[in-house]
Amino acid sequence: MKIAMLGSGFIARFYADSLAAQRRKDTLISVYSRSAERAEKFANDYGLPHYSNRMTEVIEHPEVDVVVIALSNDLHLGAVEACARAGKHVLCTKPLGRTGEEAKKMMEMVEKAGIMGGYLEDLCYTPKFLKSLSSVKSGSIGRVLWAKSRETHPGPHSDWFWNIEQSGGGAIVDLGCHCIEIARNFIGKDIKPVEVMCWAATQVHPIAAEDHAIGLVKYANGVIGQFEVSWCFRGGMDLRDEVMGSEGTIWLNNFLRTGFEMFTTGKGGNYVAEKAESTSGWLFPVGDEVHELGYSHMFTDMFESIEQKREPLENFYDGYVVNCIIDAAYRSAKSRNWEPVQLDVWRGRTDVTEGHEFTSYDNDYYLIKEEILPNGEKKLILKHKVTGEVVRRDL
Ligand SMILES: NC(=O)c1ccc[n+]([C@@H]2O[C@H](COP(=O)([O-])OP(=O)(O)OC[C@H]3O[C@@H](n4cnc5c(N)ncnc54)[C@H](O)[C@@H]3O)[C@@H](O)[C@H]2O)c1
Repeated sequence: MKIAMLGSGFIARFYADSLAAQRRKDTLISVYSRSAERAEKFANDYGLPHYSNRMTEVIEHPEVDVVVIALSNDLHLGAVEACARAGKHVLCTKPLGRTGEEAKKMMEMVEKAGIMGGYLEDLCYTPKFLKSLSSVKSGSIGRVLWAKSRETHPGPHSDWFWNIEQSGGGAIVDLGCHCIEIARNFIGKDIKPVEVMCWAATQVHPIAAEDHAIGLVKYANGVIGQFEVSWCFRGGMDLRDEVMGSEGTIWLNNFLRTGFEMFTTGKGGNYVAEKAESTSGWLFPVGDEVHELGYSHMFTDMFESIEQKREPLENFYDGYVVNCIIDAAYRSAKSRNWEPVQLDVWRGRTDVTEGHEFTSYDNDYYLIKEEILPNGEKKLILKHKVTGEVVRRDL
């Protein structure tokens, strides 16, 4: 694949590092930046033969097969529109839109143009995430009951994030999009998210948007997704996921505790990891950041999907569902009520209800609990299926 990058900022460089790593066969050949100097610098840094400060020139470059959008949130829609017009496959960073309405337009544009719309949700491609998802899918933790994801850090690095018109919101739209999609994968993408309860506040920064929020997303099968997001957290970037199942548990720590801890007086002063707040004392570096953050697996899936004419694991429809959940979160934070997720387009199951599956002990009883006491005594707590009587049975 020959790739063009739109944007030359923070995530564009992360993407470019990932595309240049490990002798990949897919090559970045062009970059757009509104500043010709920054475009040239980016092209020189990554050895690209072409650059421009005109977006359409880069998208329409005859050798470009696929375009990566790494622009501020307000520019995603226009960039997707230009790719659809040019008939070029498009991979868009998160969040897909500032609202569900914007995301829906983008989804419809790529589908109408017959191009692939890949949603660059890297945190659904980390090696830890992919392995834990396959464990969940194979039944290792039983029925998923609750999936929580947390992303908190001291706040974004560019001015536009802090401007609600350009960003579309604060920590919920910026970080909640990751957490919501992580939980949605664990719960099952075919299960409809039905309603959201969200608390949001502006606790630290003088901005119009929220810098801290916690939300619950209820799914049609009664399972709960939870997101915790903040731009107020001090101490680096905290990326943790937790899944509770009827037969097991998963805890993932993606960033601050990866098994790599280092102490330094600060002599070297080197880069430690994304959003690290210190270069001395005890530090938590991340080995191969582009790999551990999922970029390598993400781009592999995207390019293979284009070649094999299949959908990637994360596509524009997923981005649209996430945006609709975020819209409901904003409505809930305002109304202080559970708010329905308004999905005009639903492609998952419609036959799901909140069910209860109790474990049978025998024909007459359900098993509530099996217990071993400190003195070695073993007992069962059972419930009669008809009378409802709860009894103890010693073993
Ligand atoms: N893990 C992730 O997936 C991840 C991480 C960070 C950012 N992002 C997303 O990537 C996108 C860019 O964020 P970033 O962190 O790289 O920001 P950034 O500020 O570092 O870069 C933004 C890019 O957009 C360009 N831009 C901004 N306003 C423009 C305008 N009016 N006209 C033309 N170009 C303009 C800037 O020049 C720059 O090239 C956002 O959508 C953000 O949510 C994703």
